[in-house]
Amino acid sequence: MNTNGIPPVIAVLGLGPMGAAIARASAAAGHQVVAWNRTRRTAPELGLPGDVAVADTPVEAVAAAGIVIVCVRDHAASGALLAEIAPAAGDRVVLNVSSGTPEDTVASARDAAGRGIRYVTGAVMVPTPLVGTADCAVLYAGASEDRGALAPVMAALGGTSDVLGDDHAVPAALDLAMLDLYFVGIYTHLHATALAGTFGIDPGRFLPYARSAVATVGESLADLTDAVVRRRYDSGQARLDMCLAFLDRIVQTSRDAGIDPAAAALVRDASARAMARWPGGTDWDVVAEDLLGAPRT
Ligand SMILES: NC(=O)c1ccc[n+]([C@@H]2O[C@H](COP(=O)([O-])OP(=O)(O)OC[C@H]3O[C@@H](n4cnc5c(N)ncnc54)[C@H](OP(=O)(O)O)[C@@H]3O)[C@@H](O)[C@H]2O)c1
Repeated sequence: MNTNGIPPVIAVLGLGPMGAAIARASAAAGHQVVAWNRTRRTAPELGLPGDVAVADTPVEAVAAAGIVIVCVRDHAASGALLAEIAPAAGDRVVLNVSSGTPEDTVASARDAAGRGIRYVTGAVMVPTPLVGTADCAVLYAGASEDRGALAPVMAALGGTSDVLGDDHAVPAALDLAMLDLYFVGIYTHLHATALAGTFGIDPGRFLPYARSAVATVGESLADLTDAVVRRRYDSGQARLDMCLAFLDRIVQTSRDAGIDPAAAALVRDASARAMARWPGGTDWDVVAEDLLGAPRT
């Protein structure tokens, strides 16, 4: 709310699936929304309620708003947009939720600061249908007074707002780390489904076993994290030599079935490298050492 109790007008620049979802959630939360998209379309064509105003230019949208949200393809696109709106931004906080690498998001924040823009980096961690629901999750980083000004946006987007301090790299780093886990995980599921399929096991029959494996992964993460933090691999739960034998069988069976074994082979090779350095009775988790860099002293 403004000091006069009126919800601030929110400008949304970029009305792809995510920008449109943000605009819809903002309107549903009672904000007046003024939207802009590079390719001009009407509010109904963009899937927006009819009372969302569509501006002709980004500057016009910014001028009409108290808070600005930028949601375009990448940081090349958002950088050009920030340069265009900077003279009109004034005291408004600009939240950029366009995806990028941590390097991109830090460079964009530096550029925005150079242009005198109050700027917050955001990362939307959920697909569009969850925006504006209790299951939404958005990460934020920026100066505390600028993050504070985004309280109405956080309320409108719903769910969890993770406020992560002033390092603009952090939302993108967490976003990429989660997507790393997600994509490699679901690719592995596809691989495993195909492998089972070569033995006449249809995907639906494999599914409960896949769910069980994923649950086991989830349950093991806390211990794995503890091992990695302590850099100790001595629980005796899953020996390196035993796991390497399993991985060899997965790779061999995939090859025999004519299915690319690359993902499993990568893990097998990491395990074989670990076997060359540590005793076979070390926990398999020791493969982390290749990824972690020099141990802290
Ligand atoms: N969709 C999701 O589930 C999801 C989830 C999390 C994060 N995100 C992130 O949210 C951002 C937006 O994603 P999206 O799903 O809406 O679709 P998108 O395809 O990534 O982006 C489309 C939007 O970017 C605009 N755009 C592209 N290049 C532009 C440029 N040079 N100048 C101005 N506008 C430009 C497009 O305008 P035109 O219509 O004119 O092409 C359109 O509004 C992305 O960074 C994406 O990674 C999306």
